[in-house]
Amino acid sequence: MLQLQRDVSLREFNTFGLPATARYVVTIDSEAALLDALALPELAGLPRLVLGGGSNLVLTRDFDGVVLRMAIRHRERLPDNPADPCARYVRGGAGEVWHDFVDWTLSQDCPGLENLALIPGTLGAAPIQNIGAYGLELAERFHEVRALDTTTGAFVTCSRDDCAFGYRDSLFKREPGRYIIVAVTLRLPQPWHAVTGYADVSRTLADAGIAEPDARQIFDAVVDIRRRKLPDPAQLGNAGSFFKNPVVDAATFEALRARFPQAVGYAQPDGAWKVAAGWLIDQCGWRGKTVGNAGVHERQALVLVNRGGATGADIVALARAVQASVRERFGISLDPEPLML
Ligand code: EPU
Repeated sequence: MLQLQRDVSLREFNTFGLPATARYVVTIDSEAALLDALALPELAGLPRLVLGGGSNLVLTRDFDGVVLRMAIRHRERLPDNPADPCARYVRGGAGEVWHDFVDWTLSQDCPGLENLALIPGTLGAAPIQNIGAYGLELAERFHEVRALDTTTGAFVTCSRDDCAFGYRDSLFKREPGRYIIVAVTLRLPQPWHAVTGYADVSRTLADAGIAEPDARQIFDAVVDIRRRKLPDPAQLGNAGSFFKNPVVDAATFEALRARFPQAVGYAQPDGAWKVAAGWLIDQCGWRGKTVGNAGVHERQALVLVNRGGATGADIVALARAVQASVRERFGISLDPEPLML
């Protein structure tokens, strides 16, 4: 039975802990519930916001529409595919908590997602921004999603190519609101190979005396790094990295390195460079600063935090100030990563 709630506080539903009210909230726990909700006469024509863990969202105002809270839960290991013996496949509902899903895949002897441990949010939200961390992006383990195409009212399957993944980008970001993801299938290559190229990961494993880590040890190392560097949203409101790492051409990066030999950047396959935005922000003196109730995290300048009682406007004002200093000092523009509403 669908429960349509009116005038609901969204504070508990966004990891920044920002205040805002939605005209309606409805919890979606099945595909049938999704179709029923979209057919409700009260909701006809209203703007929609599909919410997973609310971990990539900045609420700057009340939402005069309907929030669909995705709570479809199921997980399964699919039978091995004789046509693709070099992989294991797992599938889950959009409402699965991402970290718990990763943990479960390891318990099912399906390694391959361990570098993405402890990323906040849900399985259904993971493809939208193509989550990535510690040398791995979701796109590298992605098989397909099942989604409702709201323009036709039909469920569709989107393959990896259809999803057009990029750095923190996908079809779902480029056509916002069109697709509502209900299930995700991941492809975990066999035999498994450890991904330990990221400096933090190799250092943490080396410090623990682990030379040939298994997937669970990488999972534990990633959890350890994230706990050390990134604030826990349950304790300090935040939405992970607030900006994307800007990608610049080789000439721009060379010029930056000529002026700032310490600048941190990663060469991209196409010759461009991804610059560490955290380093740029840190160099401008922002790390640990507080403006009103919003702040820049002490251990990771790329993460903006709610110091308590911040509004979306406080976060946006701080973000603008950070962008202005980075532009002034380095001539580089920073794009926010979370959805601003
Ligand atoms: N750095 C500083 N000062 C800071 C922060 C970072 O000098 O205050 C330097 C670090 O020393 C390091 C470099 O910047 O040399 C990169 O920092 P880090 O390894 O922490 O990673 P990041 O590039 O800042 C990205 C992702 C994170 C992901 C980490 C690990 C983006 C926007 N962010 O951060 O993803 O966990 O790599 O792979 O790509 C997220 O998207 O929400 C997120 C947390």
